[in-house]
Amino acid sequence: MASMLPLTERRASPPPGEATCASARGARPAWNPAPDAIPTVPFTTLEREHAELAEELRDAFDRVVRRSGFVLGEEVLAFEEAWAGACQTNECVGVASGTAALSLLLRAAGIGEGDEVIVPAHTYIASALAVVHAGAVPVLCDVEEATGLLDVDAAAAAVGPRTAGILAVHLYGQLCDMQAVGALAERHGLALFEDAAQAHGAECDGRRAGGFGEGAAFSFYPSKNLGALGDGGAICTNDAGLAERARRLRNLGQRRKGEHVLVGANERLDGLQAALLRVKLPGLGAANASRRDHAVIYRNVLGNRVRLLVERRRTPCVYHLFPVRVPERDRVAARLQAIGVDTGVHYPLPLHRQPALRDRVIARTDLRRSEAWAREELSLPMSPGLESQEILVAARACKAAVTAAPWEAEL
Ligand SMILES: Cc1ncc(COP(=O)(O)O)c(C=O)c1O
Repeated sequence: MASMLPLTERRASPPPGEATCASARGARPAWNPAPDAIPTVPFTTLEREHAELAEELRDAFDRVVRRSGFVLGEEVLAFEEAWAGACQTNECVGVASGTAALSLLLRAAGIGEGDEVIVPAHTYIASALAVVHAGAVPVLCDVEEATGLLDVDAAAAAVGPRTAGILAVHLYGQLCDMQAVGALAERHGLALFEDAAQAHGAECDGRRAGGFGEGAAFSFYPSKNLGALGDGGAICTNDAGLAERARRLRNLGQRRKGEHVLVGANERLDGLQAALLRVKLPGLGAANASRRDHAVIYRNVLGNRVRLLVERRRTPCVYHLFPVRVPERDRVAARLQAIGVDTGVHYPLPLHRQPALRDRVIARTDLRRSEAWAREELSLPMSPGLESQEILVAARACKAAVTAAPWEAEL
């Protein structure tokens, strides 16, 4: 098993006024716009991060091409071992995307027709689609006002006679309260799954995302905390039987060459993506630390001008995103866009309002807090390749945008 990496390493954060380069890997030239230029702060900076790794990424590419190891193979095995080590789990199964990881995880755990799985109403659509793909019904529950994460009391109220599992979605990079969710699952005999697509290296009570329940799904979509250069995903678990079923399911149900024992899918991880992920994995701890540094700057500047994500002490966030809550979200976003600060919305519709899901989900409790998150959430630029100075600009611009002050006064 790979040696343990510090995936949420703490660094002394500079005060916002004395921001220093917070790049994931070494120093880059300071962010230094022309004095009269309109500042532009991108939402993510993949090209900067990949430029720093260009040589290693090219070497990995050449290695895969030389060996023609394009699908599964030794690069995938080596990455699986490294990622299982990083997540402190016994097993890792590399798959084609985070969505595939969720669907195959549920299927490998025996979730299927007639089952219900509890899913928070405020999350990316993939969390619920995976339940539908597995043949089961997503039962939506509300989220916490403070964190946007699954509310354990609401989840308890959503349990019915057919409930077979609960999907804890670690949204924005903060883990759900896994002690409380685990106790609920145990009380009702439910299988506990993690959607850890946004929580690479995040912890709850010192334990990493990925090892709390029957299994966890990760996405390596390029902008994730650990991102491939295309689609990719993984299932982590401590259950060897579940891992074996997932390995067969991802590979058209094949047990041995030519013998197919399950109705599987073609959801294998590419050798090329695995090789590139192996290059990026050692930088995850520093990248997460950089994200946390950025969050400190945002919090210092924004104070109580906007509602900020509450970060619990027990669950230090790896800030896949930096969400704020603003009542006039679209107006604030337009103002920020006008001055060159990119923003995003994660997510504009709660799952019960998604046209594709409307007739496929059940809700036994009201979903008012999910509705409010969907109405007010705005994600500010967050990427390890952003300079502290850029975060400072984005934070001040946001402060100005919510107060309708002239932005020049704030910058
Ligand atoms: C919470 C969550 N779950 C699942 C997924 C699906 O991952 P992928 O896009 O790799 O299929 C994502 C990706 O955006 C996500 O954010």
